[in-house]
Amino acid sequence: MDGQGETRVAPAPGVDRRRVLNWFLGTSFGALVGSVLYPVMRYVTPPRLAEANTDQVEAGTVNDVEFREKAFKIVRFGAEPVIVVRGADELFVAYSATCTHLDCIVGFQKEENRLWCNCHGGAYDLQGRNVAGPPPKPLTPYKVNLVEKGSDPATIVVSKA
Ligand code: FES
Repeated sequence: MDGQGETRVAPAPGVDRRRVLNWFLGTSFGALVGSVLYPVMRYVTPPRLAEANTDQVEAGTVNDVEFREKAFKIVRFGAEPVIVVRGADELFVAYSATCTHLDCIVGFQKEENRLWCNCHGGAYDLQGRNVAGPPPKPLTPYKVNLVEKGSDPATIVVSKA
């Protein structure tokens, strides 16, 4: 008592409201930052893809890749896109369809008889060599076998070179 009817109470030892409030705000801010950063990091970091366990894939029949029509087909070889092309000489070739410049998917320009990357104008000949534009190296080759099955059109089988 201080003589005017008031009673002062000493703070309890170990209990400091300011420290509790700071701890609460600090952990809340940490949780907020974590809840924002974690999804961003998951989005930015590409998922690990399993290496292709396949030795070969079928890319349809020879009738599916007619030079007179589209003349190429893109198939999945595990996680890798592979382009199968029937050139003007009617021979089949297959390469990784991933451009060696910045990983766009290449197509086939029938008129020029070459593989073409639309992203920055990169070009490859039918031996897979980079012949124009920014690609720094050739495409990875794959092997093509034509498997006869009776009287049906031959099946295109792509395997690692
Ligand atoms: S990604 Fe193919 S030329 Fe740039």
